[in-house]
Amino acid sequence: MSATGFDTSWLNTRFAYDNAARNSTVEAAFTQYAMQHSSLRLLDIGAGTAANCLYFAERLPLDQEWWLVEQDAQLCQAARERLQDHYGTMGAGVSSDEKGLTVNVQGRHIRINLLNGSFFELEHHFSPGQLDVTLAAAVFDLLTLAELEQVLTAIFHLSPALFTTMNYTGMSITHSQAAKYIAHYEAHMQRHAGLGKDGAAALVAYAREKDFTIIDGLSQWQLDITAQRMHHFLLGFMENSIGEMLTTAAEQQAFDQWLAALRADRSLEMTVDHQDIWIVK
Ligand SMILES: C[S@@+](CC[C@H](N)C(=O)[O-])C[C@H]1O[C@@H](n2cnc3c(N)ncnc32)[C@H](O)[C@@H]1O
Repeated sequence: MSATGFDTSWLNTRFAYDNAARNSTVEAAFTQYAMQHSSLRLLDIGAGTAANCLYFAERLPLDQEWWLVEQDAQLCQAARERLQDHYGTMGAGVSSDEKGLTVNVQGRHIRINLLNGSFFELEHHFSPGQLDVTLAAAVFDLLTLAELEQVLTAIFHLSPALFTTMNYTGMSITHSQAAKYIAHYEAHMQRHAGLGKDGAAALVAYAREKDFTIIDGLSQWQLDITAQRMHHFLLGFMENSIGEMLTTAAEQQAFDQWLAALRADRSLEMTVDHQDIWIVK
């Protein structure tokens, strides 16, 4: 577990599911924009263990410079090691320095800067005109509305476009009483004025108000019987957060029984809905 509570094994486990869920129409809008450049400068905020960079660096057939902003030093280090392993295994040319990595792969030059800091301080690190696009995956639902507006103002001051994926909007579980416990789970996300499932709508509203171009669409984790590890993580998150929302011992006992039944259910299916959003000035 990292200092800020984002488990490296959780981030790495969800990687394949995030990639499978990506909305192809929204992604195409981003790649079409990218291909209008001879080289691309990308900022990824709340970069975790470098998921966006790992996914896109080889899919974009152009030279790239990345800045991965992550507040958690342990995750920055895990990102560095993951990138090194990935490119090392591919046999790409990788050199590492204090600030990041330089990779030569498939005829393209990729510079990856690892920046251990907060995305609330972007102006300290970047100037307008320095970036072509900002990326953010599974980040905005953590923020309050005021924080979201602060970050969006900084992003659009520094870069003309934002590609944000994995903004949580809801979930379903094939089990009785699921709706009640999902409601508790979502209330927990919003307990300190966090946007939770309303984050995507707030993003779209912000962009509409500014008259920016928006392309958005569903990205969904489909977690059937083969997704046991994802079930394990998600039920663990529900256990911890819903436990904080229940007020009586009887409610806790009923919840514990429900959770035990889900953990024992070999036919359990879960879907988790997200919204991917492309916004350009
Ligand atoms: C749910 S994780 C997503 C990580 C990654 N984008 C991915 O898709 O795997 C959210 C990440 O945002 C980071 N984060 C949260 N607040 C931050 C802030 N103020 N500045 C920089 N990173 C932040 C967390 O440390 C965590 O790594």
